[in-house]
Amino acid sequence: QTVTALIVAAGSGSRLGGGIAKQFRPIGGKAVLAHAVDALASHPAIDAVRVVIGQGQEEMAGQALGQRDVGELIIGGAERSDSVRAGLTAIDCDVILVHDAARPFCPPQVIDRLLAALEKHQGAVPVLSIPDTIARAGETLGVPLDRTDAVRVQTPQLFRLADLSDAFARWTGPSPTDEATVARAAGLTIAAVEGDVRLDKLTGPADWARAEAMLAARLI
Ligand code: CTP
Ligand code: MG
Repeated sequence: QTVTALIVAAGSGSRLGGGIAKQFRPIGGKAVLAHAVDALASHPAIDAVRVVIGQGQEEMAGQALGQRDVGELIIGGAERSDSVRAGLTAIDCDVILVHDAARPFCPPQVIDRLLAALEKHQGAVPVLSIPDTIARAGETLGVPLDRTDAVRVQTPQLFRLADLSDAFARWTGPSPTDEATVARAAGLTIAAVEGDVRLDKLTGPADWARAEAMLAARLI
């Protein structure tokens, strides 16, 4: 079976701010997108890596990627799920890993766990438990939710391409924030494998500082 990693990098990075979109900015001298590509391309089970960027981001992406082989760049859309859909129609493989460029450090062990889980399930995602108390949001705090009922879901998210494309074709809800939401709605069983804090998404400035510190401390 052929395995392709699809990295979505078409966002504008508005919450992080600071001129150029986060996926094209360097951490430790290397663009976030380049870190993400290298982490997946270096895994022996991954045959190809493709990248979705936004209209007008070609030059920045080219600079960030250098000589890395990612085939032709795919042009995404307004929402993350639009970018994923663009990727799904542009690639051809048996198994797909959908991954956020904003998660530059993917440990190979997570990919191992995802691939192993696909032998018993129709999809697999990395999850982590939540250390804080969870409660329903509101102007005044709502009822506490049992945190043992909840996990936070990361990427990469692994599916067979045919299953995921089919699930997206059937999705009628509002713009989904990840693939597992769509796949689950289509009735696929999705394994929840152990995630990794090094996969946490770079969203705001504190995340950026944390990523730089992880790299400097050689935790990556
Ligand atoms: N993404 C994408 N296409 C979009 C929006 C997001 O490919 N239309 C990608 C981002 O580039 C990122 C990943 O999806 O790698 C996760 O999105 P997020 O962290 O929200 O990134 P941004 O949308 O760029 O940031 P923000 O929401 O703060 O503007
Ligand atoms: Mg966003």
